[in-house]
Amino acid sequence: MSSQSVDSAKSLTGTITLSPDKSIAQRTAIFSLLHDGPSTIYNYSQAKDPQTTLKCVENLGARVEIDGDKTTIYGVGREGISALSDELDCGNSGTAMRLLSGLLTGAGLSIKLIGDPSLSGRTMTRIITPLEEMGAHILARNGAYAPLFISREDPLRALEFTLPIPSAQLKSCILLAGLFGVDESCVIEPTPSRDHTERLLQLRVETDDQGVRRIYASKAHEIPAQNYQIPGDYSAAAFWLVAGSIVPNSVITLANVGLNPTRIASLHILQEMGAEVKIVKDDSDFAEPVAQLTVQSSELTGVDIPPEWIPNAIDELPILAVAMAFANGDSHIRGAAELRHKETDRIMAITKLLDGIGASYHEYDDGLSIHGNPNLAFDSAYFESFHDHRIAMASAVAALRGNKTSTIKDAEAAAVSYPEFWSHLDLLKV
Ligand code: S3P
Repeated sequence: MSSQSVDSAKSLTGTITLSPDKSIAQRTAIFSLLHDGPSTIYNYSQAKDPQTTLKCVENLGARVEIDGDKTTIYGVGREGISALSDELDCGNSGTAMRLLSGLLTGAGLSIKLIGDPSLSGRTMTRIITPLEEMGAHILARNGAYAPLFISREDPLRALEFTLPIPSAQLKSCILLAGLFGVDESCVIEPTPSRDHTERLLQLRVETDDQGVRRIYASKAHEIPAQNYQIPGDYSAAAFWLVAGSIVPNSVITLANVGLNPTRIASLHILQEMGAEVKIVKDDSDFAEPVAQLTVQSSELTGVDIPPEWIPNAIDELPILAVAMAFANGDSHIRGAAELRHKETDRIMAITKLLDGIGASYHEYDDGLSIHGNPNLAFDSAYFESFHDHRIAMASAVAALRGNKTSTIKDAEAAAVSYPEFWSHLDLLKV
């Protein structure tokens, strides 16, 4: 597949079991490597990014056995990690590159990290500076971009690090390096970002009266086995929450969705816009809340996203922009400059998507204002994915409201996080 045609939809109905959570899957693979002994993971993701991470983990010494939906990772513990290859290919995954850079700094291995053209265009300065403070030597293209050559001859130094941006990748990178230190490192997080790392590693977390979090890591912390059943990816669910809201006569049920509170601001934003979502809690014994969601079509109204909610909704902003285009009134996304550093410049990519459907908007350096129109009509649109999975899928959802067939270029990008997206779309349209 390179281009994908998407027809207008009169309704969407059915039940979907989503692709497993990308952020959680990648972390369980890396943390299993660090654990000394086997971890059993059910429902490990087949999406490209988690598969990339699994390969990297194998290249660092873990043995991986797959039996149906059971993945067993035989971890080697912090002392046992070794470079079985002198290069780790992180593909399209910022999470893999940033988390593994922290781990390699801690382990003191000399290794080269490479990525695809998108990842090689994303700044790594945010991790290079603190990791160098911890003792790493990092050679990067133009001082900021992959390939990264990481080594460490100096002793590992503990770091007390206040996150300059609310980034879970940066937080996790420093904590992973910190887990190899005799002295304790501490990451101070003024604005919360997704907390899967702290939860899955069972790290010590202190929260002060202002909500500022301090997360600690050192060699003394035991790495728990990662025996989990990975829930469905909320970020994948968000596409169907919007599709089910804006396509008339729709009822979509999403089974087994991970509802980590640091991931679901977009659910609250959609509800504030008038989306009708029924939430039934699941008794799953996963380390985080899980639920079944049912969405049905509704009239949406514009919304102003509070900037402090942005980190918690960061991956859902492209699909929220589609909801905003079909809502009644204006919506505002500000304080989201970080979007320009994702798999593509997502503010630019959203403007192109909105151009495709004839929506009106104003672009800022750090976001967008979108002038919504519930009766927005267009015939067929030609969407560029910019090789970005979330832009490909957000475009497909917008295309459902066209009068004729639209085309999404480089649609295979969806497989980075959600390989079943196109077949799930077919299933819902029947
Ligand atoms: C992720 C964190 C987020 C998110 C990305 C996955 C993670 O990035 O956009 O898709 O798994 O930690 P930042 O933490 O850099 O904002």
